[in-house]
Amino acid sequence: MYDFKIAAADKATLYRDLLLALEGLTTGEPDPIANMANAAAVIWESVPDLNWAGFYRNVGGELVLGPFQGRAACIRIPFGKGVCGTAAAEQTVQRVDDVNAFPGHIACDSASQSELVVPIVRDGHLIAVLDLDSPQKARFDAEDEAGFKQLCELLARVL
Ligand code: SME
Repeated sequence: MYDFKIAAADKATLYRDLLLALEGLTTGEPDPIANMANAAAVIWESVPDLNWAGFYRNVGGELVLGPFQGRAACIRIPFGKGVCGTAAAEQTVQRVDDVNAFPGHIACDSASQSELVVPIVRDGHLIAVLDLDSPQKARFDAEDEAGFKQLCELLARVL
């Protein structure tokens, strides 16, 4: 078992330590499922106020559930549908303060109130999206978005 003990004193420290932990966990490991699984675990353990953290993979132009932490979730999401499908289709970050106000939001867990979805792209090709759900409205700010974007740039190299 790895014990990273990431204490979220402030967000800058949290995301710096998360990046270091993920670099350590993924360096030299070519298996994308193993890397997604450890990424989901370390995010879940370190980032406060989440009720879901994990990946949907691009499998032949459809998002398919990947490694995650949280409650069992929807398995397949078409590109363009919901928050994840929008992030995938547009290859843009979706930061949603109130998921109930997002047209087409897919409510896998009714506890989710806000959501951050970050596309993971390598050489213009969408590999997966990282999906984070929170039971708090407006849980994610610009600093969270920047921190997770950096994490996804690292993940793009190891997935
Ligand atoms: N809410 C997402 C679906 C995935 S779950 O949150 C895990 C969406 O609208 O795409």
